[in-house]
Amino acid sequence: MANDLDAARALAGLSGTRFRHVEVHDVLASTQTLLMDEGGPDGRVVVADRQTAGRGRAGRRWESPGGVSIHVSLLLRGLPSGRAPLVSLAGGVAVARAVEAVAGAEPELKWPNDVLVDGRKLCGILGELAPGGGHLVCGIGVNVRQTADELPAGVEATSLKLATARDVDRTELLVRILRELDVLVEATDWLDEYRRRSGTIGREVRVELSDGVVTGVATEVRDDGALVVAGRPIVTGDVIHVRRAE
Ligand code: BTN
Repeated sequence: MANDLDAARALAGLSGTRFRHVEVHDVLASTQTLLMDEGGPDGRVVVADRQTAGRGRAGRRWESPGGVSIHVSLLLRGLPSGRAPLVSLAGGVAVARAVEAVAGAEPELKWPNDVLVDGRKLCGILGELAPGGGHLVCGIGVNVRQTADELPAGVEATSLKLATARDVDRTELLVRILRELDVLVEATDWLDEYRRRSGTIGREVRVELSDGVVTGVATEVRDDGALVVAGRPIVTGDVIHVRRAE
């Protein structure tokens, strides 16, 4: 599937949703940086086959060659600002539903919003509020058909092709993710589904915070999206799954 990212097909598949402005680029520095800098109307979607300066959480880079991934960022306006952390959690649910439906994978969520298959990272999500709070940008990177050699070194990662042996059409998967997200960003009744899909709740975890490290069993994801570890609510941080609690 050489050129399976197609703006016209995506736009047709997204009819009836807020996502009425879809651009597909061969190469961009970062779909996320573009939308954070330029803004645009609610529901603007920017997709790139390849990024030269892709950004991950906590200042990390997000790297992948062309032709193998979905790199998409979408712009949302008019949501209450307290909804921002929930939007990126909702992104995890949207991706999990979509990869289940399109590729038959069995994903689990690692708090806050990594999507794992077989314990390996398939998708990362970056939610950012533009300075001044005018708009929210949600960036999603999905490993679709990387070979083992094309995945970043030093990270336990996988692709849909490696995990399921299926070569999924990227436009079909993109449309599915965005159709799910269109509904989820307005609702809050998906949090129980998030908890059901969570591979973090019930685990012993190590959380790296800006001011230290917390270890203990993750017992809950609260309605505001915070993860409770050893009785302490964590709002942002990097979680490492240690082992399933007894
Ligand atoms: C993570 O660190 O897990 C989040 C990764 C988010 C990557 C996506 S790819 C599309 C969008 N553009 C970027 O530069 N980053 C996000």
